[in-house]
Amino acid sequence: MLVVESLIARYGAVEALHGVSLEVGAGEAVAIVGPNGAGKTTLMRSISGLVRLASGSVKFEGREIGRTAPFRVARLGISHVPEGRAILSTLSVKDNLLMGGHRLPRAEVDARLAEMLELFPFLGRRLDSFGGVLSGGEQQMLAIARGLMARPRLLMIDEPSMGLAPRVVGDVLDALHRVVATGTSVLIAEQNAGLALEVASRAYVMVVGDVVASGKSADLEDKLIETYLA
Ligand SMILES: Nc1ncnc2c1ncn2[C@@H]1O[C@H](COP(=O)(O)OP(=O)(O)O)[C@@H](O)[C@H]1O
Ligand SMILES: [Mg+2]
Repeated sequence: MLVVESLIARYGAVEALHGVSLEVGAGEAVAIVGPNGAGKTTLMRSISGLVRLASGSVKFEGREIGRTAPFRVARLGISHVPEGRAILSTLSVKDNLLMGGHRLPRAEVDARLAEMLELFPFLGRRLDSFGGVLSGGEQQMLAIARGLMARPRLLMIDEPSMGLAPRVVGDVLDALHRVVATGTSVLIAEQNAGLALEVASRAYVMVVGDVVASGKSADLEDKLIETYLA
């Protein structure tokens, strides 16, 4: 479904990705794990069209999207839940969700909203609250639901556990399991490798702009301990 090949990305003179390759199959949940500065966000932003590729390719469902504008990438079926969630704090929960579904045919909006409230029941009790009054974990789930509103075939979530208390991380983890169970392909970037490997069946370990290991989540533990201790 998603095939990234030899991707190089630069910020000015600094190369942030040195030739990264990665694949996500249909219905698969895949993690990108690695410490701060590894290039996880840059990789997601490159897939979304928010960072220009210096070289390499990104194919989605067989189509080259490596030099495609972000709004077109979104239209093709990729939703990106950014690091820091970026929910709109002065809009209601409902309006945040509706923004995520603004490209849906009008007749489908209510049904999709109802599906999101089934997946995230607490949102139904908070529809009229401002996004900004939700807790960090609730905001993360709102951001995920907003991303899903568009019925993406691939949902990319950048650091869902960032800044959350351990107790709340469990709620987000449960939510991620439910999202994966819907059959949507999911790509998760996380410093919190434990959380990401629990959700994802496969993972890529990144360190300063390179993939240093990849494989089934269960087989990566030793490599991760090595990486994080280094
Ligand atoms: N907007 C930017 N301008 C310049 N350098 C950046 C920018 N964003 C990220 N970087 C650099 O790119 C590298 C990878 O960062 P990032 O993709 O944010 O990693 P991660 O998400 O894994 O923490 C880091 O060295 C970071 O300092
Ligand atoms: Mg990041």
